[in-house]
Amino acid sequence: MTQFTCSQEIVTQARRALNQEVWDYLTGGAESEMTMRRNRHALDSYVFLPRVLRDVSHVDPSGAMLGHKVRIPVFLAPIGSLQAIEKGGGASSCRAASTFGTIPMISSITEPSLEECAAATTGPKMFQLYVRGDFDWIRSILGRVKAAGYDALAVTVDSSHYGIRERQLMNGYLPPSVKAQKDRHLQAAITWDLASRIRDEWGGAFILKGIAHVEDAAMAVARGVDAVYISNHGGRQLDHCAGALDTLAEIAAEVGKKVELIVDGGFLRGTDVIKAIALGASSVGIGRLQGWALAAGGEAALVRLLELLEREIINALGLLGLTSFAELGPNYVRKAEVIGPTHEFSTFYHLKSRPV
Ligand SMILES: Cc1cc2nc3c(=O)[nH]c(=O)nc-3n(C[C@H](O)[C@H](O)[C@H](O)COP(=O)(O)O)c2cc1C
Repeated sequence: MTQFTCSQEIVTQARRALNQEVWDYLTGGAESEMTMRRNRHALDSYVFLPRVLRDVSHVDPSGAMLGHKVRIPVFLAPIGSLQAIEKGGGASSCRAASTFGTIPMISSITEPSLEECAAATTGPKMFQLYVRGDFDWIRSILGRVKAAGYDALAVTVDSSHYGIRERQLMNGYLPPSVKAQKDRHLQAAITWDLASRIRDEWGGAFILKGIAHVEDAAMAVARGVDAVYISNHGGRQLDHCAGALDTLAEIAAEVGKKVELIVDGGFLRGTDVIKAIALGASSVGIGRLQGWALAAGGEAALVRLLELLEREIINALGLLGLTSFAELGPNYVRKAEVIGPTHEFSTFYHLKSRPV
């Protein structure tokens, strides 16, 4: 396999490797895709305020997530039906995360099984749950998640109804795990009380994924979550939401450092990660970027992507005058007008025809 030199090269290779249906499943968003665009827009709307004349010969890009040291503060967001994107599915993400030194979050609707994914990691791992049964079903899946050695549980709460993804509808494509699943409607009945019952039954580190409102973040903190996962599902659920980075800034101002704030939505580069940490996140998830890397070259390409992100983070922290994330704060960024249309948007999301 050729050694990718930058993430643009990876996404171009992913486009070559995937057919139109799978490309659109991975890359598309809901309805007008405005939430998806706003994720990028929010990231592009912050500029850096670098400092100079400091010794930045040694830069440490490491971070921490729920008590685990990570090589960079970037984790692998859960992706359903990964097996349609790359044959190894969730196990490839797990192996790549362990090889590189970060943490995967495995979707409850991906293959292979949660046990096989767990066996593919040597480091910490997280499990993401969609509710597809009654409390006995939940108890039994949590028993399997515990037995397989997962370190944290995330319950996704932004998916009461399945987003209207027009690219999928027009292609007549439903991903395999969505096609196969039963009792999806139960996801629409989750309440704060059920979430608390799930947390109690689980008993370990607990995350609510898909928080997009300051008041919900405050309620999650009051209910004792270990991390609030700020996400609009990469713009695949409710259209016309705020960009995730803007939501993070609002929530960080409200709940401060009471719990870990983790975030995803549109993150493509090291500079994006730095903006989120500056605004109060402790780590950042990558969804599509992970999928594109797997499509481009499986586990090895995903490790390479993480290495490229690490290189970008070291480069940008150094150019900001910082030697580690501990020195970073909101005084290194400010809002500015976006000069658009942005390069990332046209390069990464809108490769509708296959490049040769
Ligand atoms: C193809 C695909 C499948 C996804 N499947 C799940 C899933 O099974 N569970 C979940 O909680 N989130 C799922 N997500 C959402 C991601 O975990 C994450 O929130 C989102 O992709 C972040 O945005 P980004 O793709 O711009 O990085 C999925 C996202 C994509 C792109």
